[in-house]
This record gives sequence, structure tokens and C-alpha cells, in this order.
Amino acid sequence: MAFLGSAASPEQFPTGGLPEVAFLGRSNVGKSSLLNALVGVKNLARVSAQPGRTRLVNFFRVGSDLVLADLPGYGYAKVPESMRRGWEKLVTSYLDRRGALALCVFLVDARHPPTEGDETLRAYLDHQALPYVLAATKVDKLGRGAVSQCREGLARGLGRKATSVVPVSSVTRTGIDELWRTIRAAAAPGR
Ligand code: GTP
Ligand code: MG
Repeated sequence: MAFLGSAASPEQFPTGGLPEVAFLGRSNVGKSSLLNALVGVKNLARVSAQPGRTRLVNFFRVGSDLVLADLPGYGYAKVPESMRRGWEKLVTSYLDRRGALALCVFLVDARHPPTEGDETLRAYLDHQALPYVLAATKVDKLGRGAVSQCREGLARGLGRKATSVVPVSSVTRTGIDELWRTIRAAAAPGR
């Protein structure tokens, strides 16, 4: 596992060409925590106590054959408009032209209905025909009934074009193995 670097603009994206999986979702939804849970390293991707902290695209290499990209979150109200547009530009410049992109992991908070930003991202991914798995985060905060209700609701709604909907928790590690299998399948050589 290695930190490959942070990028503030497309020229700084790494060029190794390894299959890549991008983590996308609103600010504070748990992207960095999920990344840390997946690779089993604490604080590799910095977890923010305050939302809106990941302002760059951070790249991590896993083993010799996979790169994970932690993208900046959207929807944090307390940022100036100019900064919000800068983040949007960075995310779309990544999604539009990242040839190595094998899969997006689109995170939504299992406890709340999808936000306007979530709908915008979904429309964008669908429009670009980018494959994505929907990860419903923080399910340790929900009972089992609520988790399956959430999964079904997302499979019919926001995630109807997703390859799958996976309830996850970075605290209890629920869904981590299932998500790994999905990632490995998407990033397998020859795909
Ligand atoms: P930005 O980088 O700001 O976009 O946020 P992020 O999406 O990377 O979220 P981050 O991983 O920093 O987590 C935000 C907050 O949610 C932190 O306080 C985490 O401890 C908490 N959190 C993340 N994942 C989980 C989870 O699975 N369960 C619970 N209970 N809390 C979580
Ligand atoms: Mg983060």
C-alpha cells in the first residue's frame, strides 16, 4: 500500500495506467473512512472531523495492480461559491478523462434520503455511462430492518442503474468484503 500523491488539477493525476477505483460522494459521507477500512490502514486517507476537508484527489496504490482515488466531497454549505466550482471542475475533469477508471464507488448516507448533490452525481455517472456501485454508509447506526429497507429503496431509486447496492460500515466492517469482491471483479485484468 502506498500513497501516490495528491492532485489539485488534471496535470497532477498519476499516469501509471493501473486500473483505478474512485470514491465519490457528499462531504462527510465517509469516503476516507471507507478507504481506510478497505485497505486496513488507519488514517491513510485522512478522516475529517470537520466536513469538506478533502480538497484534492488523493491516490493510493494497493499491491501492484490497483489504484484507489479519494475524491473531494460535494454539498458542504459553508464553502464559498468559487471554491465549490473549483471542486466540481476537478471532479468532472477526473471523471471525463480518466481512461484507467474501472469503477466508481458512490457513497450515500444510509440514514438520510439522497441529496440534490447525490442526484446530480447519479445523473452525471449515468450520462457518462460510468459503472458504479452504490455504498450506503454508516449502517452501524441503523437496525437490521432499516438497513434492508434502505438497500431496497436505493436499489429501486438512486441506485437503479448501479451494478449493486452494498450497505457498509467502516466501524463494524459490515460490507467491506462484499465491496472488495465488487472492486476486484471490476478491476480484474482483461476487463
Ligand atoms: P470529506 O473528505 O470531507 O468529503 O469527508 P469523507 O466523505 O471523507 O468522510 P470521513 O471519512 O472523513 O468521515 C466523516 C465523519 O463520519 C467522521 O467523523 C467519521 O468518523 C464518520 N464516519 C465515517 N464512516 C463511518 C461509519 O461507517 N460509521 C460511523 N458511525 N461513522 C463514520
Ligand atoms: Mg475525505
